[in-house]
Amino acid sequence: MLKLCHINKAYPMGESQLPVLKEVSLSVSKGEFITILGASGSGKSTLMHIIGCMDKADSGTYELDGVRIDSCDEDELAVIRNQKIGFIFQKYHLISQYDVLMNVMLPLLIRGQTRASALPEAEETIRKVGLWDRRTHLPKELSGGQQQRAAIARALITKPAVLLADEPTGALDSKTGQEILSLFQQLNEAGNTIIQISHDLNVANAGRRILYLQDGILSS
Ligand SMILES: Nc1ncnc2c1ncn2[C@@H]1O[C@H](COP(=O)(O)OP(=O)(O)OP(=O)(O)O)[C@@H](O)[C@H]1O
Ligand SMILES: [Mg+2]
Repeated sequence: MLKLCHINKAYPMGESQLPVLKEVSLSVSKGEFITILGASGSGKSTLMHIIGCMDKADSGTYELDGVRIDSCDEDELAVIRNQKIGFIFQKYHLISQYDVLMNVMLPLLIRGQTRASALPEAEETIRKVGLWDRRTHLPKELSGGQQQRAAIARALITKPAVLLADEPTGALDSKTGQEILSLFQQLNEAGNTIIQISHDLNVANAGRRILYLQDGILSS
């Protein structure tokens, strides 16, 4: 479903280049729940940006759901991000002036769906993440865990090929973090493919396969 082969990425550092990802290869099948575990600075977010089609590798190939991502231009990548990837971030990134319903239905409106057709889909997804009684609340009226549930609903609503989560429990206390990980497990059992990134072994153990990223080298 998702296949990276020999991905390299370096950032310019003065006159020279700082290698961050070194010959990274990764295959993920539909329905997997994997964690990429690595220390701070190991290249996790850089890899996540490449998997999420937000950044391009310097070399190597990347195929997602039958599409060769490495040969896509910016416009094609924007469409792929909207259609195939559901992003979940450490800090939720909800839009503060919109309520939960509007935040969750936004990706469908961006696609050009009408409000009337997006609304029932948003309601169904909000139910799925356990946020029904908070659907008309603003982000600032929600706890961190509830905000993350809203962000997960927003990621799910497009029925993406993969859910991509960078430190999804990093801003939460351990009990609330566990609740979010249980939700991921439930979503995975329902057939969603999940890739999460973390530096925390407890978080990683919620997934079904762990890969280790160390100084830009990925190993199993
Ligand atoms: N835009 C950039 N320009 C230059 N160097 C960068 C850039 N982004 C990241 N780096 C460097 O690349 C390395 C890997 O960074 P990355 O953000 O991928 O690490 P990480 O594993 O996500 O770390 P953390 O756990 O702290 O979030 C670091 O040494 C970082 O300083
Ligand atoms: Mg990071």
